[in-house]
Amino acid sequence: MSNEETGAVCRRLVGRTAVITGAGSGIGLATARRLADEGAHVVCGDIDETAGKAAAEEVGGLFVRVDVTDAEQVDALFKVAHDTYGSVDIAFNNAGISPPDDDSILTTGIDAWRRVQEVNLTSVYLCCKAALPYMQRQGRGSIINTASFVAVMGAATSQISYTASKGGVLAMSRELGVQFAREGIRVNALCPGPVDTPLLRELFAKDPERAARRLVHIPQGRFARPEEIAAAVAFLASDDSSFMTASEFLVDGGIGGAYVTPL
Ligand SMILES: NC(=O)c1ccc[n+]([C@@H]2O[C@H](COP(=O)([O-])OP(=O)(O)OC[C@H]3O[C@@H](n4cnc5c(N)ncnc54)[C@H](O)[C@@H]3O)[C@@H](O)[C@H]2O)c1
Repeated sequence: MSNEETGAVCRRLVGRTAVITGAGSGIGLATARRLADEGAHVVCGDIDETAGKAAAEEVGGLFVRVDVTDAEQVDALFKVAHDTYGSVDIAFNNAGISPPDDDSILTTGIDAWRRVQEVNLTSVYLCCKAALPYMQRQGRGSIINTASFVAVMGAATSQISYTASKGGVLAMSRELGVQFAREGIRVNALCPGPVDTPLLRELFAKDPERAARRLVHIPQGRFARPEEIAAAVAFLASDDSSFMTASEFLVDGGIGGAYVTPL
C-alpha cells in the first residue's frame, strides 16, 4: 500500500509499536494501513482469523487472534506486541459491534444489552488495563479508544446499548487521560460520525429513505470514508497531538455542530 493510496504524507510513527483491535475490517483495517504507512509496527488483533491475518499480511505486521471480551486473551495480545517489537506505544482500542437486536429500549432484551456492553465497553477497560503498565514503564504512550458521535448526541433511531456503551468509552477515556497525564501517557476518545462501510452501504441501498434521514443531518452531505477516520487516529497516535489528552475528538462532518444544514 503506497502513501498515495492511504493519503499518508508523513512518517510520524517510525519504530513505534501499535496494537489495533478490530483490525480486520472497516476503520481498524484503514488504520492498520495508515499506521504502517507512517512507519509503525502494527499488531492486528481480531476475532476473525481470516480477516485479521489478511490485514496483518498486507501491512507487514503481526496477527493475534483475540476476543476483546476475554481478559487473558487481551493481556496476551499486548504481551505478544511487547515481546515481538520491544514496546507498546499506541493502543487503538477499536473493536465494536452494532447488532440488529440492539434497538429501542422497549424491545432490546438484557442479553443483547449485555453482549454490546461487553464487546464495546468492557473490552476498552480490558485493553487499557493491559496497555497502561507497558506505557508507564516506557514513560510514554498514546491510547485511542473508539467511541462514536452517538456518545455526545441522541438519535430517535435508537440502539440503546450501543449508545450507552459509547458514552461509557468517552467517560472512561477522559478519566484515564486525566489520571495518567503526568506519566507521558495520553488517552483520547475518537468519535467518528457515520462511516461508509460495506454494511452501511448495503443497508441504505435497500432502503434509500433510511439513508436520506441520516444524510440530511450531516453538513458535509456524505458519510466518512474509513481512511478519513484513520487519518485522525494517526494524528492522535503521533507526537503532533502531544498536547491533547482526555479529549472527545469528533470526526463527524459537522453533525455535532449543526442545526440547519445546507440544502
Ligand atoms: N462504521 C461507523 O459508522 C462507525 C461510526 C462510529 C463509530 N464506529 C465504531 O468504530 C469501531 C469500528 O467499526 P467498523 O465500522 O470499522 O466495524 P467493522 O464491523 O467493519 O469492524 C469491526 C471489527 O471488529 C472485530 N470484532 C468484533 N467483535 C470482536 C471481538 N469480540 N473481539 C475482537 N474483535 C472483534 C470484527 O471481526 C471486525 O473485524 C467500532 O467500535 C464502532 O462502534 C463505527
